[in-house]
Amino acid sequence: MADEGTTRRGFLKTATVAIGGAIGALAAVPILRTFFHPVGTRVVTSPEEPVDVLAESDLVPGAAPRRVEIRASRLRDGWSSQEDVPLGAAWLRKSDDGEVQAFSTACPHLGCAVGFSAEEDQFVCPCHRSGFALDGERLYGPTKRGLDPLPVEVEEGRVKVTYVRYQLDTSERRRA
Ligand code: FES
Repeated sequence: MADEGTTRRGFLKTATVAIGGAIGALAAVPILRTFFHPVGTRVVTSPEEPVDVLAESDLVPGAAPRRVEIRASRLRDGWSSQEDVPLGAAWLRKSDDGEVQAFSTACPHLGCAVGFSAEEDQFVCPCHRSGFALDGERLYGPTKRGLDPLPVEVEEGRVKVTYVRYQLDTSERRRA
């Protein structure tokens, strides 16, 4: 009888320790999560994601390129979250065969804003006079490469562009 009581007490003691330990471990999870934040925090919306910029019907094949601002609806890193963040801008055009192209407006020479000259029918950077063809090819000037193409997709009639920053003044196109 005494043995049975001892066994029961032993079981209850072990069960109490186990349950207490489990509750303690569960309570520690949020504390550890707070302590290790932002390790492992997933970037939900970042410049890597395509941004909806305009309707595909706004681009006419063969017409002059259109400049669009690219803004992230939300930009989040491990430490902060901001809304409606300007990322940069792009020149968009639709070629005669209907292909939508996007180029960063940042001059690959030293980063000035590239404009479009309707007179010359080409992109021009006013800072040190670099010129680029409609397809982004380098024409003249100190720039070592053509305009930087940006990933573009057309989905359900909307044009979406992914903004990418590249290193400046290099002939090879490398992400910044
Ligand atoms: S920054 Fe464009 S030509 Fe120098």
